[in-house]
Amino acid sequence: MYLMCKVLFTIFLRFLLISQVHSLPKKKSYSEIKSCNIGNLAEEIASYDSVVRDIVDYVVSGPFKRKTYDELEKFVDMFGARISGSQVLEDSIDYMIKLTQDEDLTDIVTEELEVPHWVREQEKITMLEPRSKNIAVLGLGRSVSTPPEGVTSDVVVFSSFKEFDDAPIEYVEGKIVLFNAIYTTYGETASYRTQGAVRAAEKGAVASLVRSITPFSINSPHTGSQYYSENVTKIPTAAITLEDADLINRFYTRGEKVVLNIKMQSSFETKTSRNTLIDFKGTKNPEKLVIVSGHIDSWDVGQGAMDDGGGLFVSWAAPIILKRLNLRPKRTVRAIFWTAEELGLIGAAAYAEKHKNESHNINFIMESDEGTFAPRGLAVAGTQEARCIIAEILKLFESINASTLVETDSPGSDITVIVKDGVPGASLHNANENYFWFHHTEGDTMNVENPEELDLCTAFWTAVAYIIADISVDIPR
Ligand SMILES: *[C@@H]1O[C@H](CO)[C@@H](O)[C@H](O)[C@H]1NC(C)=O
Ligand SMILES: *[C@@H]1O[C@H](CO)[C@@H](O)[C@H](O)[C@H]1NC(C)=O
Ligand SMILES: *[C@@H]1O[C@H](CO)[C@@H](O)[C@H](O)[C@H]1NC(C)=O
Ligand SMILES: [Zn+2]
Repeated sequence: MYLMCKVLFTIFLRFLLISQVHSLPKKKSYSEIKSCNIGNLAEEIASYDSVVRDIVDYVVSGPFKRKTYDELEKFVDMFGARISGSQVLEDSIDYMIKLTQDEDLTDIVTEELEVPHWVREQEKITMLEPRSKNIAVLGLGRSVSTPPEGVTSDVVVFSSFKEFDDAPIEYVEGKIVLFNAIYTTYGETASYRTQGAVRAAEKGAVASLVRSITPFSINSPHTGSQYYSENVTKIPTAAITLEDADLINRFYTRGEKVVLNIKMQSSFETKTSRNTLIDFKGTKNPEKLVIVSGHIDSWDVGQGAMDDGGGLFVSWAAPIILKRLNLRPKRTVRAIFWTAEELGLIGAAAYAEKHKNESHNINFIMESDEGTFAPRGLAVAGTQEARCIIAEILKLFESINASTLVETDSPGSDITVIVKDGVPGASLHNANENYFWFHHTEGDTMNVENPEELDLCTAFWTAVAYIIADISVDIPR
């Protein structure tokens, strides 16, 4: 009896857990997608098997082995962090153009746009009560400065917006708010970072802090974007570590007054940057595009090796490998290096606007911006018919264990801007369970990358783009 109760209880717990993660994208293998009947196309797709093998061999054990990793390493070591609007970002764009020209790919265009340039200067948080302690801090993008002497006040802690909304204005006015929401998924928890300052300011707070958006920490604060509202006072806002958020919360819960002094200085201006477009022209329908992409800018901490150096370099490699192997598809394969993703998908929005009269020519758009760990497949947005075709293509990647199709409505970051208008697209689905440990921190360095996994991503990315660019039908909308 006891045993049976225990088993039932375990099943109940598991059910609870599963219902909690309902916001995760649905994972489906191709065979689970119902009513896929793509007729003769299945046979045509199967015939690409030898091309896939050639590309995988060339990248995983042939002349391109470790090339993506070595080039990424040189790149991030040379430039380091590449924040939107900085000269180092522009220099890194020039470097990528040269690197591509050295491979005899010359169909390269850059498109200028205005981007935000937010520069972090001094940042310091000191706990004054109940004891003196340095609090590790990273200001959030676009945060305003404090006065030179900083802002000093006591802290009120909230574990959710619900709890915050229930608190009377008098309780928050003049205080420093700490949003201390425990990480569930990035999508769910990041709103405390993006919206926290506006919400806190609406109730008269003098500054807003957020528990870093991560499930794991070795006292590392995680920066990221946040958005002020037009008619709401702009208050200084920053991320602190899980450890310090927990410490402050423990004092607070015990009823002890926690007083902080926050000093933050930064500057903000507008600069010019560029999206970079590299075309490997199609033979039959060069106006039709299969886009592979990643963003070249990064936050100002770490090296931007993972976010998004990996995505940048697998997308750089795709047209180069096709050129080297003389695999010229019917449609054009276009690599795009987006600029100013981190400050709000600025480059992608400018591209969408500039090219909106030809968006019908985008056959499929791909982005890698969630890690380049072992590839597992694609997270695909599009009609059922579109997904059936992609699922059939993914079958060709069983040998490298990358056949999973995840259904999503909003893949990638930049490309959501284009996919929301009905263009089919996908992001790289990969074994990125630890991605958010490093995301937007000083820890985003080459040490996170793995050469074998990066090779697999490169081969997968290249072969998928080739097949979609070459098959006899357009991806339906
Ligand atoms: C801000 O306030 C002005 C003046 O009251 C108003 O016209 C405008 O619509 C407001 N903007 C927003 C985003 O609420
Ligand atoms: C889209 O507009 C641009 C600029 O006006 C033009 O150069 C281009 O040819 C147009 N493309 C199509 C497909 O109409
Ligand atoms: C293959 O991928 C699945 C997830 O799609 C994963 O659970 C499994 O461990 C992977 N197998 C290998 C050998 O990496
Ligand atoms: Zn990114």
